Amino acid sequence: LPDSPNVTVIGLGRMGQAATGRLLDAGLAPTVWNRTPGRAGPLTDRGAVEAASLQSAAEHADVVLTFLSGDAAVADVLLPKGAPRDGLRGVVIDCSTVSPATSGALAAAYDSRFVACPIAGAPAQMRDGHAMLLVAGGPGARERAEPVLAALSDTRIDAGPDVSHAALSKVLNNYLLLGGLAILADAVRTAQAAGLPDDYLRQFLGQSPVVPPGLANRLEHLIAHEHEPWFTVDLGAKDLGLYTELAISTASGSDVAAAVVERYAAAQEAKLGDQDISAVVEVAAPTEARTTKGRS
Ligand SMILES: NC(=O)c1ccc[n+]([C@@H]2O[C@H](COP(=O)([O-])OP(=O)(O)OC[C@H]3O[C@@H](n4cnc5c(N)ncnc54)[C@H](OP(=O)(O)O)[C@@H]3O)[C@@H](O)[C@H]2O)c1
Repeated sequence: LPDSPNVTVIGLGRMGQAATGRLLDAGLAPTVWNRTPGRAGPLTDRGAVEAASLQSAAEHADVVLTFLSGDAAVADVLLPKGAPRDGLRGVVIDCSTVSPATSGALAAAYDSRFVACPIAGAPAQMRDGHAMLLVAGGPGARERAEPVLAALSDTRIDAGPDVSHAALSKVLNNYLLLGGLAILADAVRTAQAAGLPDDYLRQFLGQSPVVPPGLANRLEHLIAHEHEPWFTVDLGAKDLGLYTELAISTASGSDVAAAVVERYAAAQEAKLGDQDISAVVEVAAPTEARTTKGRS
């Protein structure tokens, strides 16, 4: 790679915007492209260059980073007609949350030029350079990707050469997030219904050792019932689908997951899909006392 590689960011949603901001902070002037035009404005004001087409964005890059909603979007962009995109000769780093199968297909198509890099962290952490990158790929690709990954974050976890391990780790990470949040949401609803004051809840749950930082950062959303999105219910439901596929394919047991899936599906049915995942606090069904009848 040249000392100052041409970096292209594809997908300017919440994560792609944050990552581009980070690259600009690091002194790179990335090229950007988004399917829906009009999202690059604040970034081009700071020095990013908006490509006229996906093809030109891909062709001129030494390194392409993708931040796309999921498997189908990644396939559209990186595997049109099931094959690598024509003219894309640089290193491909996919930062989207996708299935291990899609990551594997990308590794097969781009071979020693592919790095899987799903991200455990919010857009704010991405902007600040502290999001956890789960990095996997062959040594050649990893070495070429490293300067750009180092510019993105100081927290990089080595998931090894098998790209499916990074994808798997991310699916597990988000199951823990979404399941934990559903339980915390229940606890907040119950606490409020039982009359615990909000300020006391902020103090108690905010400092409780059983509410980890990755959930505590949504405590205010839950208590205030305010769900300005930084990770949407729709994307969370997509990730729970990936976890369910994994639990079924490994026969590892998915009954708890089924309850979690149901809760986020209920949020989608309540038209909260574009709200933050904290909106699960709005949709719990009333609890029915569990009967012990018939048990010996
Ligand atoms: N937000 C978070 O906290 C977070 C954290 C870690 C990982 N992630 C993962 O990171 C990825 C991006 O998340 P995000 O929050 O940035 O999502 P987002 O704000 O919903 O953005 C999704 C992006 O995907 C693009 N897209 C969707 N379908 C496409 C297609 N068929 N072809 C081309 N582009 C397409 C969208 O383009 P348009 O603007 O045209 O719709 C948009 O740029 C997801 O895989 C998500 O699971 C998110």
